[in-house]
Amino acid sequence: MSMDLSTTYLGIELPHPFVAGASPLSDTLDGARALADAGIAMIVLRSLFEEQLDQEALAHHDATLAHTESHGEARSYLPEPAEFVFGPDEYLGHLAAVRQAVSVPVVASLNGHTQGGWTGFARRIADAGADALELNLFDVVTDPHRSSADIEHELVEITASVCSAIRVPVAVKLSPFYTSLPHLANRLRVAGARGFVLFNRYFEPDIETDLLEVHTQLQLSTPRELQLRLRWLAILSGTVGGDFVVTGGVHDVEDAVKAIMCGAHTVQIVATLLRHGLGRIEELRQGLADWLREHDYASLRQMRGSMDSSRAPDPRAYERANYLRALQTHRGFGDA
Ligand SMILES: Cc1cc2nc3c(=O)[nH]c(=O)nc-3n(C[C@H](O)[C@H](O)[C@H](O)COP(=O)(O)O)c2cc1C
Repeated sequence: MSMDLSTTYLGIELPHPFVAGASPLSDTLDGARALADAGIAMIVLRSLFEEQLDQEALAHHDATLAHTESHGEARSYLPEPAEFVFGPDEYLGHLAAVRQAVSVPVVASLNGHTQGGWTGFARRIADAGADALELNLFDVVTDPHRSSADIEHELVEITASVCSAIRVPVAVKLSPFYTSLPHLANRLRVAGARGFVLFNRYFEPDIETDLLEVHTQLQLSTPRELQLRLRWLAILSGTVGGDFVVTGGVHDVEDAVKAIMCGAHTVQIVATLLRHGLGRIEELRQGLADWLREHDYASLRQMRGSMDSSRAPDPRAYERANYLRALQTHRGFGDA
């Protein structure tokens, strides 16, 4: 008997939980078709960045580039305009074309952190046929006068204005870098967000010590990154309503099982597809079905959330108190 892997995300019925996360995988129509042919349940398009919407920001960007180039250092915190894969019109055209080309749901993604021109653009995204919208809201804040309350207020305002402008469901792709994620998530829920994508990954700076240069380089994830996500999936899905998505560090079946047990409705994958190719989708889907059967589950839904903070046998394991105990009872590694 075939295993029931079906799940619901943002009100959309999906045959299984594996979704292609925002990435270049669907930058071309052939790429999107290949994902659909390989059995992906849903596709998230790469983000359109706020800077791409805002011509003034681009003008500023040009001026900044001219400045940094004349100093010959520390450039490229923004990509060159020519490096943007799509401008706003191309993005909408691509979205509509992908929507036509594949029968799986397609999610658009916007990345930014100010009110900008998002509301109008979100409407155009909805009109172009997006089944959902992912808002990727993060900014590295360096201004010592901006408080966390102010920043969170802006995120909530952006979410509220986008959610009230469109009927298409909105999920927020969060970062883990907030003092009280449950509080922020709750406010975003009230503002209209129907789901949370945990978590975004970022460029991390590194230093070339000989050259005295700062490098930022995108590295693919490792399964080690999953654990941070498991904690917050478990805590948020046990305390804040809405749908949850894991993104970051899912490489094999067991990773997906853990995330779903902690409350994930869908599982986004990027790095494992880039490393192993699209055949990975069917391996994961089949592997998940086998895992559930071997562990006597009747369906994916039966397992989902079984280890979230409202249901785990020891929910405190997700909290800090256990961390202290682990440190105090640690007796050293190996023979030491
Ligand atoms: C080359 C590349 C491009 C990406 N572009 C975006 C993007 O435009 N917007 C976004 O929200 N995430 C983007 N991501 C992040 C992925 O959607 C995903 O969250 C991240 O890779 C973690 O998942 P993984 O461990 O399965 O790779 C990108 C990732 C990669 C590797």
